[in-house]
Amino acid sequence: MAQIFKPRADTVIRIVLAAAAALPVLAVGLGYAIMRSSYTTEQNLTREQPVPFSHEHHVGGLGLDCRYCHTSVENTRFAGMPPTETCMTCHSQLWTNAGMLAPVRASLVENRPLRWQRVHNLPGYVYFDHSVHVTNGIGCSTCHGAVDRMPLMRQTAPLTMSWCLDCHQHPENHLRPPDAIFDMSWRPPDDQATVGRQLMLQYHIDTRHLMDCSRCHR
Ligand code: HEC
Ligand code: HEC
Ligand code: HEC
Ligand code: HEC
Ligand code: HEC
Repeated sequence: MAQIFKPRADTVIRIVLAAAAALPVLAVGLGYAIMRSSYTTEQNLTREQPVPFSHEHHVGGLGLDCRYCHTSVENTRFAGMPPTETCMTCHSQLWTNAGMLAPVRASLVENRPLRWQRVHNLPGYVYFDHSVHVTNGIGCSTCHGAVDRMPLMRQTAPLTMSWCLDCHQHPENHLRPPDAIFDMSWRPPDDQATVGRQLMLQYHIDTRHLMDCSRCHR
């Protein structure tokens, strides 16, 4: 299945032509995606944020759990972003005069959410769901890297289609037990080949349709 993507340009052109005939709007989207993917995958760039929030301090240092701020990551498609109130549970008492936190205080007073710039951003025609992954043995750090050591957030994985497909073809190489999903330092053990196959059964993962186009392009 994956081989048909090897002559990548060919396949893409054929698909785009087919799409152009059917759906001009989609074609514009795809054309944009090709431009975007051939120039850069936007890996390892940081974004200018309203506040220089550090995962290294809050997760690595203070030991906060991802779910404290990204509350819906196990239940919905989206991980969710923390409202200003979450920051203020601590920062109404800590660093209350810090200039760096002025936008957080203003946000609370003016009842206006902070506008975080997205770091990871799939094209609109790709369907992704967090809950399916994190409740089926894929940990945050497999896709996001060692977040607990990031002073500023950056994208570590390419997020290209072939990156998704590599895992969908052989998820057993990446599966971890449920209690290791939020462990930022997890590494596959030496017997991952055996453990991975057992976890496939435990999570009831069926790879037969994981490569279907309609899984990710709905
Ligand atoms: C105290 C709150 C807090 C905690 C705890 C937290 N985060 Fe975040 N996270 C944020 C904020 C605020 C942003 C937006 C600013 C930024 O991108 O750094 C963010 C952004 C992110 C992003 C990038 C989102 C995008 O725009 O693409 C990822 C990925 C992420 N967090 C993963 C994690 C993981 C994994 C953990 C647990 C190891 C975690 N976070 C713990 C507050 C938190
Ligand atoms: C559980 C308490 C807690 C929560 C919740 C929390 N912080 Fe902090 N924050 C701290 C502490 C403690 C420090 C000082 C960390 C240090 O110096 O190591 C800090 C430091 C900071 C700093 C200064 C730079 C740095 O990282 O040292 C910024 C900016 C900041 N926090 C923003 C935020 C934002 C934005 C949120 C909400 C998304 C948030 N914090 C949520 C406890 C918290
Ligand atoms: C299978 C890979 C994968 C795993 C596992 C994963 N993420 Fe993500 N994450 C992504 C992708 C891809 C995006 C961009 C989604 C988009 O643009 O629609 C993303 C986006 C995010 C965002 C931005 C907000 C959003 O929901 O789009 C946050 C926050 C985040 N992830 C946190 C986490 C946390 C916390 C975990 C672990 C509990 C986690 N992710 C596990 C791939 C993953
Ligand atoms: C590290 C492994 C891994 C990566 C990377 C990964 N996935 Fe998955 N994905 C899985 C596994 C495992 C499942 C199957 C869960 C099951 O069937 O129980 C899955 C299932 C899915 C599903 C099916 C959800 C449903 O509702 O049926 C979608 C959609 C999906 N992934 C999209 C993506 C996209 C898009 C990317 C790339 C941006 C991606 N995945 C990257 C491992 C991965
Ligand atoms: C596991 C998820 C997944 C599956 C399955 C999948 N795709 Fe994709 N596809 C993606 C992602 C993610 C992108 C965006 C890549 C980027 O932005 O670089 C993409 C992009 C594309 C593009 C835009 C051109 C490009 O390569 O950047 C086309 C065309 C496409 N997919 C066609 C297909 C076809 C045809 C199939 C079935 C044979 C398929 N996809 C199966 C995730 C998937």
